[in-house]
Formats: sequence, structure tokens, C-alpha cells
Amino acid sequence: PGTGSLNPAGSHGRSGVLTAFAAAKVNLALHVTGRRNDGYHLLDTLVVFPDIGDRLSAEPGDSVTLVLEGPFAAALSAESADGDLVLKAARLLATLSPRPLPGARLTLEKALPVASGIGGGSADAAAALRLLCSFWNLEPDEAELHGLALQLGADVPMCLASKTARITGIGEDIVPLAGIPPFGIVLANPGVPVPTPLVFAKLASRDNPPLPAIPGGGFESLSRFIDWLGSTRNDLEASAIEAAGEIADVLNALRSDPDVALARMSGSGATCFAITGSRRDADAIAARLRQTHPDWWIAAGAVA
Ligand code: C5P
Repeated sequence: PGTGSLNPAGSHGRSGVLTAFAAAKVNLALHVTGRRNDGYHLLDTLVVFPDIGDRLSAEPGDSVTLVLEGPFAAALSAESADGDLVLKAARLLATLSPRPLPGARLTLEKALPVASGIGGGSADAAAALRLLCSFWNLEPDEAELHGLALQLGADVPMCLASKTARITGIGEDIVPLAGIPPFGIVLANPGVPVPTPLVFAKLASRDNPPLPAIPGGGFESLSRFIDWLGSTRNDLEASAIEAAGEIADVLNALRSDPDVALARMSGSGATCFAITGSRRDADAIAARLRQTHPDWWIAAGAVA
């Protein structure tokens, strides 16, 4: 489910509650192709959104408030940037309404690690935009919503789309991509937050080639897709490892599993991913990894 899927929570037995899924964003390939005058980097990236993520709900309240729950709630309130991003999204969306809007009691179930290269805060902000459009009966057009998302952060528009896509610019030019076979995925994070600006600042080269051409008809098999991915990179990997050496340990652990077809870092790290043939393989790899690295955050899922 993407952030676009809103489930009226009738199944919860509580009326007036809406929920939205905020899927993790995983950069399967990320090339840094230049830098804008304002310091933001130009990217060429392929992103997917596995069924691993946070959950945001809204119910009637006196004002707009946010309650944090789940395994990473404490990390988030200490850091506060991501929590702020949900409330910032709510305030920004409210400016579209000519009349005062009712309060919303928001609850964020924080399942994704904070500042970890899989877009947690951006996914939460995008989910807040979708959820509150529905909650407040607002109907901005997609272009308007995309504009609000970009104001919230470079990764928020892609999380708003929440679909496999090739993305250029600083994250605003989104071209949905069909023709990628489904696969299983493992996410692993060593528990070290990595600040994105630091990783970009440490980059050795900012003018790298774009992604190689993607076959027009898509990929006929997963192994063909993995071959293609093998000719791509994450240009942020080296500088992220410089900032947090634990990332190399995660990559080594993933790559040493015989069922892992390809392992790489996502975004600016520290979360790394492994691609597998199926969700079952991903579950098995995750179980093995939890045995050897009980202190890491490890999740298994699939990309449809
Ligand atoms: O837009 P967002 O707040 O997510 O970006 C955080 C920081 O990451 C920026 O201030 C910038 O230093 C860096 N960044 C970048 N190029 C991008 C995205 C982020 O340099 N395309």
C-alpha cells in the first residue's frame, strides 16, 4: 500500500479515524550528477516503496496535535525534525483552505529508524498530506500537492507518489517506471543516524554520469534487472561509510548471505538493502541476520 491508500478505519470499530501507510523509500540506484547554485545536488535515482513503513492516523480533536508511538518514537521526539515535518505538512495544507479547519489528533506509529536514508520523515510528511486531504475534504490538484510536498523536502514529492520511479532534479522530476519484476527486500540498519547534509558535503565527485538507459519494454526477468542494477551505484556510499564505518559491516553481512542477489546502501545511509528472489527468501535472510546481529534494525518485505 502507498500513501495514497487511505483506509477508513471502520475495522478498528472507531468512527472518524483514518489511517495512511507511509512506505519506506529505497534508492536502488542513486547517481549524483551535479549541484545547483543553492547547494542542492542533482540526482538520477531509481526508487521503490516496499511494504515496510510507518503508519499515520487522524481522528477528530480540538486542535492539530501529534502523538508518537512505536519502536522509534523516542528517537523521533529526541530528534524532533520528522515529527515537526508531519505538523508542518498539516499547517501547510491548512493554508489551502479559505475557512478554519477542524482539529485533528494525529498518531504516528514510528516503525522506521530516524535519519536512516529510507525517507522516513519524508514518507510521514507525504502521508500527512494525503491523510489530511481526506480528513478535511480538501481536493487540491496533484500539481498543487506536489508543490507543497517539495516545500517540505526534496524527497517528499516522491513519497507522495509512493510508486517505483526514476527521479531526477533534486527529487521533483518523477517518472513512474513499469516493467520491473516483483522481488523480496531486506532492510538493515546498524543504529547510527547519518546526517544527510554531512554525507553530501563529503562527496569526492558531484559530476557523475546519469543512470544507464532503462530498456523501453522494462526487464524480462529479475536477473536481467539485477544485471542492470549492477551497472549502477549509490554515489553517496563512500562518503557515508566515511561518516559511519558500520555501514561497511552491514554491506558485508548482507553480501555474505548466499541468497542475496545484490546489496547496497539506500539514500545517504545508514540503511542498506538486499534484493532477493521472493518475500520468503527475504524473511529467511532477515532471520539469519537477526541471529548474528541482534542489535541491528532488520526488516523484510516485498516490492510488488
Ligand atoms: O530537502 P531536505 O531537507 O530533505 O534536504 C536535507 C539536506 O540534504 C539539504 O539541506 C542538503 O544539504 C542535502 N541535499 C542535497 N541534495 C538533494 C537533497 C538533499 O544536497 N537533492
